[in-house]
Amino acid sequence: MIQIALPKGRLGEKAYERMAQAGYECPAILEKNRKLTFENPEKGVRYFWVKPSDVSIYVERGAADIGIVGKDVLLEYRPDVYELLDLKMGKCRMCVAGPEDFYDDHSRLLRVATKFPHIATEYYKSRSRDIDIIRLNGSIELAPILGLSDVIVDIVETGKTLQENHLVVLEEIVPISARLICNRVSYQFRQKEVFNLQAQLAAVLEE
Ligand code: PRP
Repeated sequence: MIQIALPKGRLGEKAYERMAQAGYECPAILEKNRKLTFENPEKGVRYFWVKPSDVSIYVERGAADIGIVGKDVLLEYRPDVYELLDLKMGKCRMCVAGPEDFYDDHSRLLRVATKFPHIATEYYKSRSRDIDIIRLNGSIELAPILGLSDVIVDIVETGKTLQENHLVVLEEIVPISARLICNRVSYQFRQKEVFNLQAQLAAVLEE
């Protein structure tokens, strides 16, 4: 069976719908319970739900052959996996955001709060701006409001969270969307199954 790691939550559910349309359905997954793995031997698939930021760990280490993960996670953790397909869902932007009247005073370090320290560091390195990273795990928007940071580097989807907290996008770093990833060994040794899955899914996405 092909092992597929899905990110828990809305994106994962949407991604599963596409997998089902592509012929990899597993009706047990829709049952409301706390099980974490679901399989459909007829279709040769076993799915499991994992924390979105853990999907690439399962795939990189071969516990999953295939995974669905946001480009943000790939950019942040840079796992050694193949990126097979842009699923064109879960679209959002990685941005620098801050107060409307933000002014970057270059005479001191810029304090940047984020869940994505690697992405933020690389971005500011490319701009030769020295920063002080403040690593947070959620509610990032609070940081500039409370004076913990000057700006944030975070995901912006609808822009609502920023708007309701009187913050604005200052710079766009990179567009983000969900990607189909594959373990490197599985890609070689389960070539046929992986190619089929990739092709079927690509066809569904084009409909
Ligand atoms: C994400 C992100 C923003 C928000 C953006 O947070 O960190 O806070 O969504 O979405 P919007 O532009 O549509 O308002 P998430 O819901 O993952 O929560 P957390 O980061 O606070 O844990």
